[in-house]
Amino acid sequence: MAIQRTLTILKPDAYRAGNMGNIIALIEESGFKIVHALLFKFTEKSARQFYQVHDGKDFFAGLLEFTVSDKVLAMVLEKENAIADFRKLMGATDPAKADPGTIRAKFGTALPKNAVHGSDSEANARKEITYIFGEFASIPSTEKNHAKEY
Ligand code: CMP
Repeated sequence: MAIQRTLTILKPDAYRAGNMGNIIALIEESGFKIVHALLFKFTEKSARQFYQVHDGKDFFAGLLEFTVSDKVLAMVLEKENAIADFRKLMGATDPAKADPGTIRAKFGTALPKNAVHGSDSEANARKEITYIFGEFASIPSTEKNHAKEY
């Protein structure tokens, strides 16, 4: 299994509830290394672009409103099999359907307030990391010439 990078975003509901520290602890205890982090607020334009695959769905307007409602913490996580493993740790999109112990079961409330986002494929991880942190940030440290640089 290869070392991969994935993008997570700790969402406005997690920020407002003061849950970021507890979520980060779970992420680190599960073996993910945080290699980039940025606390920021989405604008309507950047939220629209980030979630463009959902444009046209009935929940899109509500998702945008929620996404811009407060600060978020975007992090690039590195680990063996990071993309699938993070989706397991995160749980199902709907907190009501997420397995006990997952981040969304513990810290999500009701859609769209599900506490965290995680990339769903290698192609999307690269695209999402590049959008927020630049292309260099999406390359695992094992594939870089300068192995000690993140
Ligand atoms: P995320 O994994 O960040 O990807 C898209 C987001 O849209 C999702 O988490 C939820 O926050 C939100 N979402 C997905 N499905 C629904 C839905 N049926 N109703 C409301 N919000 C949704």
